[in-house]
Amino acid sequence: MNFKRRTHTCGELRTKDVGQSVVLNGWVDSRRDLGGVIFIGLRDRYGITQVIFDSEQNESAHKIGKELRSEFVVSVEGKVIKRPDDQISSDMDTGEIDVVVDSVTILNEAETPPFPIKDNVDAFDDLKLKYRYLDLRRAPLQKNLMIRHRMYQVTRNYFDKNDFVEVETPTLMKSTPEGARDYLVPSRLHSGRFYALPQSPQTYKQLLMVSGFDKYFQIVKCFRDEDLRADRQPEFTQIDVEMSFVDTEDVFKAVEGLMKVLFKQIWNKELQFPVQRFTFDEAVEKYGSDKPDIRFGLELVTLNDVFTNSEFKVFKDAVSANGIVTGFAATGCADYSRNQIDNLTEAVKNLGAKGLVWLKVKDKGLDSPVAKFLSDDEKDKLQENLNANQGDLILILAGDRMKTLTQMGALRLEMAKRLELVNEDTEPKLLWVTDFPLLEWDEETKRFYAMHHPFTSPRMEDVGLLDTEPGKVKARAYDLVLNGHEIAGGSIRIHDSGLQAKMFKALGISKEEAERKFGFLMSAFKYGAPPHGGIAFGFDRMVMIFAGLDSIRDTIAFPKTTSATSLMDESPSEVADEQLKELHIKLRNEKDS
Ligand code: AMO
Ligand code: AMP
Repeated sequence: MNFKRRTHTCGELRTKDVGQSVVLNGWVDSRRDLGGVIFIGLRDRYGITQVIFDSEQNESAHKIGKELRSEFVVSVEGKVIKRPDDQISSDMDTGEIDVVVDSVTILNEAETPPFPIKDNVDAFDDLKLKYRYLDLRRAPLQKNLMIRHRMYQVTRNYFDKNDFVEVETPTLMKSTPEGARDYLVPSRLHSGRFYALPQSPQTYKQLLMVSGFDKYFQIVKCFRDEDLRADRQPEFTQIDVEMSFVDTEDVFKAVEGLMKVLFKQIWNKELQFPVQRFTFDEAVEKYGSDKPDIRFGLELVTLNDVFTNSEFKVFKDAVSANGIVTGFAATGCADYSRNQIDNLTEAVKNLGAKGLVWLKVKDKGLDSPVAKFLSDDEKDKLQENLNANQGDLILILAGDRMKTLTQMGALRLEMAKRLELVNEDTEPKLLWVTDFPLLEWDEETKRFYAMHHPFTSPRMEDVGLLDTEPGKVKARAYDLVLNGHEIAGGSIRIHDSGLQAKMFKALGISKEEAERKFGFLMSAFKYGAPPHGGIAFGFDRMVMIFAGLDSIRDTIAFPKTTSATSLMDESPSEVADEQLKELHIKLRNEKDS
């Protein structure tokens, strides 16, 4: 097709270009037909320029202009003119000029789109996902993908400058032990065998350390078949990093260096050093979370000492059962209605709490249905410990330590939302969480699981505890948290086969099972494995935060729904019997199972 190629983008022309002859290519964004004159907003990813079809100046162009409809693709040639002063639009970068069209070619027509391509469009999410390629024409989504693009470039540039080597690792692999469910790929050539898609390149990056690539990184797709939420997708992207001859501090330094340049280049902000650190125990006790949002206070306070000998059974029982009584003061909420408090109680009950104790700090003292069970001394200490002032609402939960703290952490976030403690101008807060437990006990299967993965090194001083009290062993593992989101996690690895064997034993993994699952890694470690460690960033989550979004879906060009489907291409989909046959697969009728 013969058409005029653009001389400028639709976001480029300014008053300095007035008088020039230009060609623009783009989509019809808006259209105003005043009879003799037609105004068209012409859009591409750089912006919108108003072009004018004037019947008095050019009748044939005006005739074609009349045919244009939303989302038609056109090439226009014309002259840049200055807009009359009273028509300048200051909200448009090109708002001081227009282009008067001399000739126009319709490059393609378009059906009426299922929703208008506008910044704020009132359409159902499902419809937008089905027509994702049209949704992606909208400026807000284009902006997100541009931020994502910048972040790839900053990241690659940073690691390259610091001597890291980018290495690709396989997508068809043996199942990795990250703890989520694998996506499996049946093998055609090997009946009954399956590849797994990587939950992460964990084993490969450790093998690369054995090979001598002492600083590795990769921007890589990972796949996990797990329950999805706003910050989880079945396929997502990691910035994966591994380093040899390092300890925790070296990994922290490399990571903080990347965050510093991202803060600067994406946000134009200085990252504050030193980056704060919390141990897992501190984070959980103070914020009820291993990914604390410290952009606001509402810190939890452990009240066991106050209620050791309490008359109030709920508190006393929790203390004597080695549980916890934890509370915080919600500033200025003493005027909460019964209904508001019932809502909060319902919310924590849904998380498994048995109830919620509340006390309003009034001028006459504490106003609460449980006040009569508390001694004056307890009431005084309670207010003092929580730093609660008149007008505040004290909230307390009691029970099993970990569960109660987690419920309280959720309540803290809820109160922060209600009190609007975070807004666009709130400074971002980056922090490390360290000293995670190495192992997690699972009541259902009555065994320990690796909290991170089985190659995570215990703290050296805790190695002895592996045989005696495995639950108490802390790991050399760390998470990086930004604004209450876990954006990266990693650890120093075990590189000693004796220690690895101990770890497998603590996990209840037999020698045979270890050999079958991780034999290739274990045997590689026999040939000179350097001490090593690393980390992986959740890239989509980082883009979400840097772009100020609520969901990682808006950072991904073609995301899946929360039920892991693609509404656009309708995957997953059924396949032909022939394909299944080749793969040696026979579908089982669910009713038969
Ligand atoms: P981990 O499992 O903690 O560690 O993953 C690293 C980071 O990836 C992000 N993430 C996700 N993002 C979107 N959707 C998901 N479903 C999802 N799951 C995880 C999180 C997380 O912090 N191999 C180890 C890293 C290591 O030890 O070096 C690993 O994958 O932001
Ligand atoms: P009960 O003794 O069950 O009648 O509870 C007395 C008060 O304590 C009620 O207001 C409950 O909501 C509250 N409550 C009960 N169990 C807990 C708990 N584990 N943590 C906090 N409050 C609780």
